[in-house]
Amino acid sequence: MEGKDSSEEAVAAIEACYQGFNPAAYLQYNYTPPRADFQRSDSIVPWKLSCLHKAFSEAGGMKGEVLVDVGSGPTLYQVMSGCEHFDRVVLSDFLEVNRKELRSWLQGGKSSLDWTPYLQCVCELEGRSPTAWTEKAERLRSVVTDVLPINVHQPCPLPAGSIPSSGADCLVSSFCLESVSPDLPSFTRALGHLSGLLRSGGHLLLIGALGESFYLGAPGLQIPVVPLDEAQVCSSLRTSGYQLLQLSVYHLPPDMRVGVDDVSGVFFAKARKP
Ligand SMILES: C[S@@+](CC[C@H](N)C(=O)[O-])C[C@H]1O[C@@H](n2cnc3c(N)ncnc32)[C@H](O)[C@@H]1O
Repeated sequence: MEGKDSSEEAVAAIEACYQGFNPAAYLQYNYTPPRADFQRSDSIVPWKLSCLHKAFSEAGGMKGEVLVDVGSGPTLYQVMSGCEHFDRVVLSDFLEVNRKELRSWLQGGKSSLDWTPYLQCVCELEGRSPTAWTEKAERLRSVVTDVLPINVHQPCPLPAGSIPSSGADCLVSSFCLESVSPDLPSFTRALGHLSGLLRSGGHLLLIGALGESFYLGAPGLQIPVVPLDEAQVCSSLRTSGYQLLQLSVYHLPPDMRVGVDDVSGVFFAKARKP
């Protein structure tokens, strides 16, 4: 009982930290050069976009009715490939400030980041002209049906009835679970909660930080992160009942270490719920 109380307190402490999260600052820290330099193949964002593109376009590729992005934050890059393969995309985040940022772009309003180079890059990966980015933006705006509140520490993370009872066909989650969990058991439990959102045979694409102990969620706001290694990611996925299909790792070049976190690498995992 004592253990449970202390883990609940640790989760509550992280939730309190998130009240200071600033979407515009977070986007500036992580989604502008050098981390989002589309002229460099070793830049972190092009690497992530290319992993997502490959996962969705591989033979026997993933497609279906519903794709859910877990812990979207204020970002859209993670669904720019997937939006072409599913009838409906659901975005989600714990914080209303992030949901507001997403809704604003979806409704064609003000955005804290220009997503155009991202859309252009994904069009190029798909073999289309970069000028097709306006069509992709339109596609994304038309398939996103909801921007929902979510809490991955709850056994049912999404509001009741918001996705089909059999579960989504695909889940994407990037940099969420390790940065909202106080420790490895909590990270693994959260992965188990996500499994309840996925249908049998559905896929999980999980992207996350390796070796990270904090990141800046706003100027001066250090948000704690569970430092993970590759073996822990694989074992947490298996413990939570997923079948691991692929794990790729990106090692951060020294000039991508820009003082906004202490991340050493990024993992991309493709897994399946049996
Ligand atoms: C590091 S950001 C990742 C944002 C985005 N997915 C990306 O790739 O950059 C972590 C996100 O998790 C959200 N979050 C915080 N607590 C959460 C919780 N208990 N359940 C789900 N998401 C949570 C935060 O609001 C934040 O947007």
